[in-house]
Amino acid sequence: MASVVSNKQVMTGTFLMWLECAGISLEARPGQFVMVHCGEETVLRRPLSIHQADGGKFALLYAIIGKGTQWLSQCSPGVEVDILGPLGNGFMVYPDSRNLLLIAGGIGIAPLMSLADRAISDGRNVILLYGTANKDRYHLPSGVTEVAATEDGSIGYKGMITELVPEHVEWADQIFACGPLPMYRAMAKMSELKNKPVQVSLEMRMGCGMGTCYACTIRTRQGLKQVCKDGPVFDMNDVIWEEIKT
Ligand code: FES
Repeated sequence: MASVVSNKQVMTGTFLMWLECAGISLEARPGQFVMVHCGEETVLRRPLSIHQADGGKFALLYAIIGKGTQWLSQCSPGVEVDILGPLGNGFMVYPDSRNLLLIAGGIGIAPLMSLADRAISDGRNVILLYGTANKDRYHLPSGVTEVAATEDGSIGYKGMITELVPEHVEWADQIFACGPLPMYRAMAKMSELKNKPVQVSLEMRMGCGMGTCYACTIRTRQGLKQVCKDGPVFDMNDVIWEEIKT
């Protein structure tokens, strides 16, 4: 059980919740997720990325997309939430990687923040390409060099965040991304990324979150994989994107 410390709306329809639970926060690696029991109205737990961890607390950044997350948004400080985790594999940063390029599309910023935090505290260089539809976007904590793009041009580059990727590829030792499927499909077609180590975090409907129900199975070049157990982080070039449906 994790106790809600705070739960605030940080942009339209998106909340940042901090919870107290040392068992999760001290164990969590960037890119891992938790399964959250969202009240009695929902049968299945909801998978949510661990956004940040700080001592005995960890944060979830979540958009309201249904009954479960609506319930979560109503939880006040002090409420106990039933949470399973940390789950999944998380991002893998190679020991000799100095320059990390992070690419976030919309709420895909959620799992990348803890990766940025960890990389910066390890003395690595981080550039975060962060794309949203408009200026209603998450205000990033300081310390991250952000390159912004909005589809309507209200902040930063006008267009899709993927259009900024090619100019940063050479600088990067490794690339990490989280965003919607069209973003991944665009990246998978980029010749600049063919020989780069690119890790992507997949968002998928889940049942158990622990590798037993097979609801999250995908086909990869390494065979069938379960997103909850073998992922959610995969090598971009291993995923057969034409067969992914979320
Ligand atoms: Fe059950 Fe992945 S959600 S196997």
